[in-house]
Amino acid sequence: MFRKRSYSLAVIGILLGSIILLMLFGSRLFTDIEEDPQVEEEKRIVVGVSQLGSESGWRTANTESVQNAFTTQNGYFLIFNNARQKQENQLKAIRSFISQRVDYIIFSPVVETGWETVLQEAKEAGIPVILMDRNVDVEDESLYVTCVGSDFTAEGEKAGHWLEQELRRRGYAGNDVNIVILMGTEGSSSQIGRTAGFASVAAEHKNWNILDQEFADFTSTRGREVMRGFLRKYPDIDVVVSQNDDMTFGAIEAIRESGRTVGVDGDIVILSFDALRSALEMVAAGDINVDIECNPNQGEYLLRVIDMLEAGGQVERRYYVEEDVFTIENVTQELLRERTY
Ligand code: AHR
Repeated sequence: MFRKRSYSLAVIGILLGSIILLMLFGSRLFTDIEEDPQVEEEKRIVVGVSQLGSESGWRTANTESVQNAFTTQNGYFLIFNNARQKQENQLKAIRSFISQRVDYIIFSPVVETGWETVLQEAKEAGIPVILMDRNVDVEDESLYVTCVGSDFTAEGEKAGHWLEQELRRRGYAGNDVNIVILMGTEGSSSQIGRTAGFASVAAEHKNWNILDQEFADFTSTRGREVMRGFLRKYPDIDVVVSQNDDMTFGAIEAIRESGRTVGVDGDIVILSFDALRSALEMVAAGDINVDIECNPNQGEYLLRVIDMLEAGGQVERRYYVEEDVFTIENVTQELLRERTY
């Protein structure tokens, strides 16, 4: 009995002692763990991102993906600049990143040419440059570390192969097929690659007449405008290849205005690129026949690349994001629900 009581007294004593110790040192302990903004800021990796613009739904999703990846919680300080489709703005942004001595430069080049001098300046300043989405055409490949983005030529080929199969399925394989192409920004990797990829498949089919192809800048307004022009010039268009969803939205409006119909049961077959949720809804409704995906979620890939570089590792010259092809057969309600852009 007596022994039991002395045990309990000892336990209570230990508990009280621990509480007093915690009160004395606990607050100090927590202050040490808490983020000291000054010190933490110094430890953050500074990344300058030059985004080429905000021309499309795809671009908005791409920007969000980068902004969600390079957060302070992940240890980054992001300096973001939107070049509004102007190469001169991108050149200015990159030079300002160099003078701010950022740790990394990420940029999505609006066109492929004209970057040697500024990339040389970044190299001399010892700042690694990572390309996002689009590529640059430079002789000296050491001017950038790696490129994260899509295989645009493969996307163009996928569009061509889908059309081959569709014509075969409809029993039109040998008939004349009149095609018009709405191209994206002149000189951009996505325009160059998709045009070349589709052309390589078209070259195998003597009955595919490419009536016309025109730049429509990846925007809905220009897509509508250029399509109206095509419809005035060519009364017998069978197929529209539109190099992004925004141009497709405009083109479909123009086709409907002209009294013609689109899609699975329509007069004109529509091939599009990007696979935004609003476009996939049109695929599910049968208004767009096929949508070749272009994946804007590149932030996570870029994070991994910088992690590898920070760890002193080697990175590949090229990272391709995963992409699919969507038709009425595989656009499910679940896919639409999960699509965040
Ligand atoms: O470079 C990617 C392309 O640029 C996307 O297909 C288009 O929507 C964007 O503007």
